[in-house]
Amino acid sequence: MKILVVGLGYVGITTALYFADKGYEVLCLDKDNDKIKKIQNGESPIYEPCVEELIKKNKTNIITNISKKEAYHQADVIFITVGTPQDEKGNANLSFIYDVIKDVIEFVNKDCTIVIKSTVPVGTCDNIEKIIKTNLNRNINIDIVSNPEFLAQGNAINDTFNPSRIIIGTENDRSKNVMSELYKGTNSEKVFMDRRSSELVKYASNCFLALKLSYINEIANISELLGVNIENVVKGMSYDSRIGKEFLKCGVGFGGSCFPKDTNALINISKNVGYNSELLNSIITSNEKQRLILLNKAKKIFESFKNKKIAILGLAFKPNTDDIRESPALKNIKYLVDEEANIYAYDPKAMENCKKIYPNLNYCINIEDAIKDADLCMIFTEWNEIKKFQCNKYKELMKNPIVLDGRNCYDVAEMERIGIRYDSIGRKRN
Ligand code: UDX
Repeated sequence: MKILVVGLGYVGITTALYFADKGYEVLCLDKDNDKIKKIQNGESPIYEPCVEELIKKNKTNIITNISKKEAYHQADVIFITVGTPQDEKGNANLSFIYDVIKDVIEFVNKDCTIVIKSTVPVGTCDNIEKIIKTNLNRNINIDIVSNPEFLAQGNAINDTFNPSRIIIGTENDRSKNVMSELYKGTNSEKVFMDRRSSELVKYASNCFLALKLSYINEIANISELLGVNIENVVKGMSYDSRIGKEFLKCGVGFGGSCFPKDTNALINISKNVGYNSELLNSIITSNEKQRLILLNKAKKIFESFKNKKIAILGLAFKPNTDDIRESPALKNIKYLVDEEANIYAYDPKAMENCKKIYPNLNYCINIEDAIKDADLCMIFTEWNEIKKFQCNKYKELMKNPIVLDGRNCYDVAEMERIGIRYDSIGRKRN
């Protein structure tokens, strides 16, 4: 079986590497020529551990110098892994998916299976099937399968090679057999179901995790007002296996390419069938508020931010990625820029991406450079480098040693002992 992967973002590149590593010949298409060139040079087109090594290891199985027409002609299985970004109404924008379907209709000339890995609203696979049936005039069978992806950035290779589960939504035995063959030998459980259920599994899973985060953020805010330490509360809760230990780290709200987009999309999917989910709506409102929590703490300290030197540590939406999509730091920076603050930003990996949106911030070479003479320091991402930073340097280098920590990187008592005005999330101050 020859595999074609269309769209080489986080999902596409890791899918291509998974199957190439299993010995399949994998054809790759992406309209961004820079990505193709990088792969050809043995480099990773995304910032992600292990990707480069796997590209080098599997270079004979990863085929990138192929025309669109030839790729669609040769493919037995086509994985669609293009982005489905949020449109202005909060729906998933499916235009990239439908562009690929146009190419399928134009070029595919033998039986094949199309696997939708991109996150798409319930009913999208059915719709794709209809469009193909209506527009394709050749006598061939094209099956559509839903196979959502659950990888988290920073752990993409491990999540793809050892997924928590493989969800497969099919409507006939032919495509079910193809998917069984593709994923044979995996240690992960293969869970077969109908396509619509499979499409909803992805949204229901991501929104549940977003809900869990918003819940613990709310409990943290309450803890803070009660003079209780959230870390003790989470520890005490986590002994209940129904609650678990994971995904209970409070902070400045969630960001990234999935949770905000998928929660909004599920709200709209529900509305389209006449259901207004108060709970899903409240995830968004709670998270919007949480993402501005440091700014609101800062407003209690400073009457105005005009000409204040503010150090921003961490721009990425989480550590070990250069991705700034929906990053809490950027939401706060927007406000501070409008207020004419002087921002000195540092992030180990995400500064180049941030420069594309805010070219005029002062980008610093390290943490010291950012905090020197600062009136205030705000921490948005728990990079190891920030967590391991010697705290007495805040006291030595800043004009006013005030640190607002949105990721609970430091010990409260230690910061207070050094003489830093330190405020974090959900933790008791002395
Ligand atoms: C997420 C899901 O984990 C993945 O399964 C899905 O397919 C895509 O969305 P990702 O966005 O890469 O992956 O990152 P994740 O590590 O899940 O973090 C999401 C956000 O939640 C980040 O902003 C992170 O800082 C925040 N988070 C996560 C917390 O605030 N506390 C936690 O305990 C965990």
